[in-house]
Amino acid sequence: VTGDYSGALRPQVHFSPPKGFMNDPNGLFVDADGLYHIYYQYNPTGLVAGNQSWGHATTTDGYTFENQPVALFPPNNETFVFSGSAVVDVNNTSGYFPGQDNGVVAIYTLNNSTSQNQNIAFSKDGGYSFEPFEGNPVIDIGSTQFRDPQVFWHAQTESWVMVTVYAAEFAVGIYTSPNLKNWTHASNFSNHGLLGTQYECPNLVEMPVEGSDETMWLMFISINPGAPLGGSISQYFPGSFNGTHFEAVDPVARISDFAKDNYAGQFFSGIPGTEKRLSIDWASNWQYTNVVPTGNEGWRSAMTVFRQNHLKKLPGVGWDLVSTPFNISSQFSQVLASNSSLGNSSILLDYSNVPSGALYFEANVTGLTPSTLAGSLNFTFTSSISGENVQGGTIPGGATWVSRRNAGWGSENPYFTDKFSSNGVYSGSDNGTWTLSGVLDRTILELFVNGGEQSATLVFFPEYPLDTLRIGAADIPEGAGVSVAVWGLRD
Ligand code: FRU
Repeated sequence: VTGDYSGALRPQVHFSPPKGFMNDPNGLFVDADGLYHIYYQYNPTGLVAGNQSWGHATTTDGYTFENQPVALFPPNNETFVFSGSAVVDVNNTSGYFPGQDNGVVAIYTLNNSTSQNQNIAFSKDGGYSFEPFEGNPVIDIGSTQFRDPQVFWHAQTESWVMVTVYAAEFAVGIYTSPNLKNWTHASNFSNHGLLGTQYECPNLVEMPVEGSDETMWLMFISINPGAPLGGSISQYFPGSFNGTHFEAVDPVARISDFAKDNYAGQFFSGIPGTEKRLSIDWASNWQYTNVVPTGNEGWRSAMTVFRQNHLKKLPGVGWDLVSTPFNISSQFSQVLASNSSLGNSSILLDYSNVPSGALYFEANVTGLTPSTLAGSLNFTFTSSISGENVQGGTIPGGATWVSRRNAGWGSENPYFTDKFSSNGVYSGSDNGTWTLSGVLDRTILELFVNGGEQSATLVFFPEYPLDTLRIGAADIPEGAGVSVAVWGLRD
């Protein structure tokens, strides 16, 4: 399966579909050889949402993708394959994989005008082709708003666990099963956080905790529409899980991204016990996803980069999901800038010679003390042809802003909001160092504040490629220093 990835708007280190329209990541799993499988909500024949199938791609590094044949097609003209997950049935609990430890089971919603119900399909070839279970659906509650099952193995209770939403009731149903085929309702987690008009795409995952051997559980819920900034957003709840019930540490709604293009995130499943907490998210928003100009290149939507996640307790803030680009240094091709004593100045660099047009940048303020959390960092990516730009900045302490106001397409679109900012909520005292970093990839920017304590994902569509970067610092206090490094990514 090949696609034309040469268009000026095509991200190069982010996944986007070969052609057609993509939304949510589905079925993320890593196999015993370390090969990552990505499935996704896919319209293979159109440039707007519809004909929901599961597209499929594989990657060994999270940045270079091989497109695979569509894995799940709609069973008929009225019924579509909505979001879901996939697991490796290592111990053949389903009985479908005698003598095999690499059987893959996809768990997904079939949607038509009268029903949404949960179904499973088996793959004996490691996730490339699937056979629907003859006993489908495996859960049907007679609802039209019941979808997006995520399944994982819960070692302590030796049971499969599913979370799935009663979308219009703002509830996540928790089910358990010994074999992926027979499911028992265990509990509901409901009416927490931001409700929007519906809950979608729940994920429940065990998370490492920074500075501790303990783990915590994280309930991740997407809402659309109804995000505070408009449209689609994801929120999360740290808490505990005993195999049947999830309890959040507090009622706070924590939003996972402070811009507008990060939705329906999903965490990878793996060989039980070996999971790294990797995730990807859909880098778009239902408010405008069907009209963005990448349609002119025959495709719509990209995923975020692979992210590595953990929880951290921040002074004065509480539990926080920390996300950083997974193993990004594996993609560094050339050093574009490396300055460890920038001080209160800036550097301007031309990266038009980086064929991918993709960069990773990092600016560190070092030597801070809690009483000198001052100064600012700023960056501007500009097109040398048109002057179109994306810019942002931040202060040690955390308040961060980013703007796509002058980045080309979108000023006529009332939903394509152009400026975003976050609160200054950081301790800033991690070894006196404070960091702003990001991945820019032609039409997507992912910003990571202080090592991923907060992040922002935004897409933008300039008429001419952005090809220069100015990055610098101002008002940095006495005794503190600034270092900046910029790399071209895989060319
Ligand atoms: C979220 C969502 C899911 C659904 C899928 C359909 O973006 O609405 O709830 O399963 O997209 O494509």
